Amino acid sequence: MPDMRQTENESTPAVVFDNVIYSYDGVKNALRGIDLDFESGDFIAILGGNGSGKSTLAKHINALFVPDAGRVIVAGLDTSDPDNIFLVREHAGMVFQNPDNQMVTSVVEEDIAFGPENLGLSPEEIRSRVDEALKTVAMQDYARSVPHNLSGGQKQRIAVAGILAMRPEIIVLDEPGAMLDPRGRRGVRRLMRELNEAGITIILITHFMEEAVLADRVVVLYEGHLVMSGTPDEVFSDEEKLRTYKLEVPFTIKFGNLLRERGIEIEKTISTEVLKGELCRLRSTM
Ligand SMILES: Nc1ncnc2c1ncn2[C@@H]1O[C@H](COP(=O)(O)OP(=O)(O)OP(=O)(O)O)[C@@H](O)[C@H]1O
Ligand SMILES: [Mg+2]
Repeated sequence: MPDMRQTENESTPAVVFDNVIYSYDGVKNALRGIDLDFESGDFIAILGGNGSGKSTLAKHINALFVPDAGRVIVAGLDTSDPDNIFLVREHAGMVFQNPDNQMVTSVVEEDIAFGPENLGLSPEEIRSRVDEALKTVAMQDYARSVPHNLSGGQKQRIAVAGILAMRPEIIVLDEPGAMLDPRGRRGVRRLMRELNEAGITIILITHFMEEAVLADRVVVLYEGHLVMSGTPDEVFSDEEKLRTYKLEVPFTIKFGNLLRERGIEIEKTISTEVLKGELCRLRSTM
């Protein structure tokens, strides 16, 4: 895949949250003082139980929400400055949790063309981006379909295509696997990896551990607080904290622990490949 970055400025962090507070009703804080910075080119997974604040955080990254207090800086742009809103959205594309919110026209290919049209691109460029995006999500056969007649998973693919056609530097995906079948999920996983390898910063909200382990960094939200941050190995090996924050302990960690309880010396790992290697090593010493 070609390098799809629009700028080469590696030193500007992709996203910075500086003590961000946000509340929907003025009483209950959905975000209670979030500090984070995501490096450009990183693949980040955001985890947390229902209602922990993940979608609220995501909507701050494309300036749909602005903080009640604190600041969000995307590609060096302060999202609370109204002059920056369109620029922020050019830099950071978002695939929403509910794809119905993302459909704006009555024909799939027009829907995908909507973003690039707003960027003021030539008709030829728009056509080629729409075709490429449809092909990337394996939805070429649905170019002339009515978006509202598609299944949830198909709509999600179209929403991903709409963002790809804009070629943003940062892509935020809010549970893209939720409506997809296992094959569709594998497709999106592969696509996220390819996009990340092409230099795009990927911020993925997910409930699936097998998606989170692909990330360079995992952050965990709990009741509007950022409570864990680290590599997948660091975050997923802290079973006690995972339970406290209502997260599932990955199978590889649970299985390793069961073996260790029985006195079998095996490395603690989240990787199925490493676990497989360890089991083969043990077998060869038996
Ligand atoms: N439109 C809204 N109006 C009022 N409160 C809201 C609204 N949307 C979310 N909230 C509240 O804000 C908090 C965070 O919600 P958010 O949608 O960010 O959670 P989430 O982590 O994305 O959850 P899920 O895993 O279910 O998608 C929750 O307590 C929720 O009830
Ligand atoms: Mg959500």
